[in-house]
Amino acid sequence: MKEILIVKNLSFKYSDVPVLRDVSFSVEKGDFLGIIGSNGAGKSTLIKLILGLLPYKSGEILLHGADVRTRKPNVGYVSQKVASFNTGFPATVREVVLSGLKKPSLFRYTAEDMRRLGECLERVGMTEYGNKLIGRLSGGQQQRAFIARALIGGSDILILDEPTVGIDAMSVKSIMELISEINRSGVTVIMTNHDTPTLVEAADKLLIFCEHGNAELVKKNELSLAEMSELYAGKRRHHHD
Ligand SMILES: Nc1ncnc2c1ncn2[C@@H]1O[C@H](COP(=O)(O)OP(=O)(O)OP(=O)(O)O)[C@@H](O)[C@H]1O
Ligand SMILES: [Mg+2]
Repeated sequence: MKEILIVKNLSFKYSDVPVLRDVSFSVEKGDFLGIIGSNGAGKSTLIKLILGLLPYKSGEILLHGADVRTRKPNVGYVSQKVASFNTGFPATVREVVLSGLKKPSLFRYTAEDMRRLGECLERVGMTEYGNKLIGRLSGGQQQRAFIARALIGGSDILILDEPTVGIDAMSVKSIMELISEINRSGVTVIMTNHDTPTLVEAADKLLIFCEHGNAELVKKNELSLAEMSELYAGKRRHHHD
């Protein structure tokens, strides 16, 4: 099956606050999907729904053909708040990356786990930092460690929620290059970013939040220049049925 993710007629509210309304789109293997929408539009909510972290009643989300409510999907995930934790957190980069393996409480790491650790650290350019405390690294280096943590589970889909917030411009560029490289290696990427031009440049499909919790999927190369500049200006789209 070419479609790795199918979202059908998804609606969602937090108690009585409606966030998503009748959202439908699909993502194919190898896509780089950028999710665009203003603050509070519902981007992180949609991601949590895809990850099976929030219950929903209306609509359907299929990941690899399975309903995410019945089978918790194996997805590499970098959450929005991940880099803003207490910098005194006493874990090394290796420990942070290995925690992505989601092992049961009593376990030993196998030789295979350690091989994967080395491979993932190398993939994100952090081989030399394995023994460093995560809190002592720069924002960009921390984010690389969290990307390695998301990769170590071996998922073919990586979801990143605002992975470049609070990182200096040079590091943003190199992190975007890293994510694109991971995508080119065959991993399907879904990502949000407050910096629309940077995201549009990297993505090949865009899910654009419109007014009233609707969202529309467009292929980047089908956007007109006028639509592109409206997007960059942060203008909200009107939904056409
Ligand atoms: N746990 C929650 N309980 C109630 N309302 C929530 C909760 N989380 C988010 N919301 C509300 O749902 C809406 C969508 O929030 P969400 O975090 O999905 O937006 P977002 O597009 O990710 O925004 P941002 O760009 O600021 O990250 C907002 O109005 C928010 O206040
Ligand atoms: Mg968010």
